[in-house]
Amino acid sequence: MAEVIPFPAPEPPAPGVEDRPVLVLDLGGQYAQLIARRVRDCGVFSELVGHEITADEARRRRPVALILSGGPASVYADAAPRIDPGLYELGVPVLGICYGAQLMALDLGGAVERTGVSEFGKTALHTSSGALFKGLPEEQTAWMSHRDTVTAPPEGAEVTAESPATPVAAFEAPERGLYGVQFHPEVVHTPHGQDVLENFLYGVAHVPPAWTAVAVIEEQVERIQAQVGSEQVLCGLSGGVDSAVAALLVHKAVGDQLTCVFVDHGLLRKDEATQVVETFRRHFRVPLVHVDAERRFLARLRGVIDPEDKRRAIGEEFIRVFEEEAARLGRTPFLVQGTLYSDVIESGGEAGVAAKIKSHHNVGGLPEKMDFSLVEPLRLLFKDEVRRVGEELGLPEEMVWRHPFPGPGLAIRIIGEVTHERLEILREADAILLEEVRRAGLYRELWQCFAVLPAIRSVGVQGDERTYAYPIVIRAVTSDDAMTADWARLPYDLLETVSSRIINEIPAVNRVALDLTSKPPGTIEWE
Ligand code: XMP
Repeated sequence: MAEVIPFPAPEPPAPGVEDRPVLVLDLGGQYAQLIARRVRDCGVFSELVGHEITADEARRRRPVALILSGGPASVYADAAPRIDPGLYELGVPVLGICYGAQLMALDLGGAVERTGVSEFGKTALHTSSGALFKGLPEEQTAWMSHRDTVTAPPEGAEVTAESPATPVAAFEAPERGLYGVQFHPEVVHTPHGQDVLENFLYGVAHVPPAWTAVAVIEEQVERIQAQVGSEQVLCGLSGGVDSAVAALLVHKAVGDQLTCVFVDHGLLRKDEATQVVETFRRHFRVPLVHVDAERRFLARLRGVIDPEDKRRAIGEEFIRVFEEEAARLGRTPFLVQGTLYSDVIESGGEAGVAAKIKSHHNVGGLPEKMDFSLVEPLRLLFKDEVRRVGEELGLPEEMVWRHPFPGPGLAIRIIGEVTHERLEILREADAILLEEVRRAGLYRELWQCFAVLPAIRSVGVQGDERTYAYPIVIRAVTSDDAMTADWARLPYDLLETVSSRIINEIPAVNRVALDLTSKPPGTIEWE
């Protein structure tokens, strides 16, 4: 028998925890991103890469381990994604999940067959041995979703788990650094899934859980300092969590070289503008230019009714104001941008994003002709990680957990012309709604919750008087990513309180309605 070489030779942790990622190869599965997130939840930095990555490219990124994701195809389909076989020879352990495990079997001397028996959903898993199952019960539940089945593991691999329909539900070849699981450890329906990933990362790949919010902050601070040197940096604040966290990171790195510009278009929610100014100027002592531009924006919006016209008007005006302020500040070669890792992935990875400034981060996008180098301290982070960093930096809880808010703000929640009077009414109604939702402890369960003001009037009666006033629509949705959404089942008691408070406290409103539309067919916003 060949001599067993311990695999892999443990390496000392690298100086930067992000220098040595776990690379998650996306083989087309809906869960590839989730795998990357779960790895990060284990305190290990991971990056999602396309399955076309070559062994050389992967080697240059100095990974500590590879994970091959699931995928919808059959390994025998014509267009089935394949990987560079050199990836198995990088000298780091490889974990194949579902399709990834089947690909390993196919590539490395095992066998995959369409047995005619597929497994979908919760499945009983019996484990017999293996580093991935160390410390876990022999009988457990795992989430399966496959048609093809591994019938023989890669050469030299031992079968470590089976399910009723799958004789090879997991395999390991420690001396070759090969690990495969047919089930999905990344989904919550596999109760010990996170343990399996931890066993792989800590036990097999010997990576310590060193990627924490504190480590991210330290690493970003160093990177920002190296990028910016002694130059001036500009950052547009929107009131949202991304720009706030990005600004604080840059401020921590280069102090007063940073100037934040907060273009207050007057379309924010009640008290939000004040909170931005208080937090940044008073609490964090970040140099902040607060441009109170409500009049300008309202003047631009006079007579504008069409939603896209509103967006355009606000976007253009935003750029004009921002440019004026930037010009006033003199030479600022760097601009902070709150690009997130999900933006990087969506735009097709590293190359795609830098050039493209996402309009969602600053109303209508920033002027293209402005000659800035971008500082993007969040481009490696998912949204929940940005929040954790925000908490660590001491950002108020209310800002860290704020629901997404559209750049054009309340302008696209007033159906009809935007006027100061309507904005004030909507702000009050929205504040009441959110106050009650928070009081009921439901704020964090909702993706978004807000009031809409359709600028029509209906008849009512209050006291002995006939009223003719605006309605307010309550919109509350649950969602994971805003691509789809379901209307939230808010408790009747809560709705009752909100409704009566809005009608009693805001004379210009005499009716409250609830939006019961999911997305699709509706959108989250009304415009
Ligand atoms: P819809 O209404 O398309 O919204 O279902 C999906 C998500 O995008 C937000 N949204 C916007 N965000 N500028 C933004 O910055 C916009 O013009 C805009 N329109 C919609 C919306 O709030 C939801 O989170």
